[in-house]
Amino acid sequence: MQAIMNTYGRLPVTFTSGQGSWVFDTDGKRYLDALSGIAVCGLGHAHPAVTAAICEQANHLIHTSNLYGIDRQQALAEALVRVSGMDNVFFSNSGAEANEAAIKIARKYGHQRGIHEPIIIVMTKAFHGRTMATLTATGNAKAQEGFGPLLNGFIRVPFNDIDVLRAVVNANPNVVAIMLEPVQGEGGLATAPFSYLQHVRALCDENQLLMMLDEVQTGNGRTGSYFCYQQADIMPDVVTTAKGLGNGVPIGACLARQHAADVLQPGNHGSTYGGNPLACAAALAVVNTIVEQDLCQHAERMGDYLRAQFKQRIGADTLLEIRGRGLMIGLVLKEDCPQLMAKGLSFGILLNVTAGNVIRLLPPLNITEAEADDIVDRVCQLIETLE
Ligand SMILES: Cc1ncc(COP(=O)(O)O)c(C=O)c1O
Repeated sequence: MQAIMNTYGRLPVTFTSGQGSWVFDTDGKRYLDALSGIAVCGLGHAHPAVTAAICEQANHLIHTSNLYGIDRQQALAEALVRVSGMDNVFFSNSGAEANEAAIKIARKYGHQRGIHEPIIIVMTKAFHGRTMATLTATGNAKAQEGFGPLLNGFIRVPFNDIDVLRAVVNANPNVVAIMLEPVQGEGGLATAPFSYLQHVRALCDENQLLMMLDEVQTGNGRTGSYFCYQQADIMPDVVTTAKGLGNGVPIGACLARQHAADVLQPGNHGSTYGGNPLACAAALAVVNTIVEQDLCQHAERMGDYLRAQFKQRIGADTLLEIRGRGLMIGLVLKEDCPQLMAKGLSFGILLNVTAGNVIRLLPPLNITEAEADDIVDRVCQLIETLE
């Protein structure tokens, strides 16, 4: 009997250290990390600013409680408010928990408006987490199988179809919020056009609904701006993030604006660890580094560079399209290729395959052009093995 519960299909490799865009296994073999722990280590491994912040904080105080003031939490909240234009922040420990906070805000917002059976509209192929509420919001029947009954109060619509969305809103007076990802990280890198996000914003305004963006994966510079919505020139009412926020130290955040920012009051929500001094010190180093080193712009530039290289190197007989934004890249192949993730190990590269035929690349935001070239070489060699 294995000591670890059997919830993951793991590859037969164990990493013991990392440096920048590289990780090293127990035999000392090095791998180019084009996955960043699934969009987590945006600054790469062992980043000196993050390491220093963690060590410094651990030397002083790791945890107190949200019963008291936490100066690192205050400083991080102010930094996130500054980079996002939102009004305030609730801190959690993961993306799913950040989305739980968003769902609770939407439901209480509904109750405050006299809607006692509030409905949140969610999207096909969405991924919002594995807790019961976020699993319900997730549009993946396989992930939900065996866990019923799911929660009431969610209606699913096709992603990127504004007409269906509008019709569902018009037909359901109990709708209180629309929740979506600007790029569906787990759902095959399907990307919302900015015009769609703008239409959703307008629909929410017309109907007093909360526009809630899940930027757990797209946030923290990943798509070429601090949050993806900033490129669409809109403001959501609620935005959630996690992953890249802590560069590997578990932390999530639910940011809110205007009416949504006042919904949760003392006693309505909480978390023992959420926003603790250690996690906030690490995340503050991450946010400051992304801003000071202009890593959003760098991510956009390297994303464009990688796309151009892939377009040039992979034939149209193999590559259907390239999806995503910035350094969130989905190479959609004509055939299914789940085996490439394991095969990548022998080519010294970490990557992921999602939706059967989409090679997902999420390299660190600060990769160099030489490392980008190296990713292209290794991925192209890997794809050649399919023929
Ligand atoms: C868009 C999105 N939302 C939520 C989550 C869940 O985050 P966590 O695994 O930190 O709970 C993920 C994780 O992949 C995600 O990609």
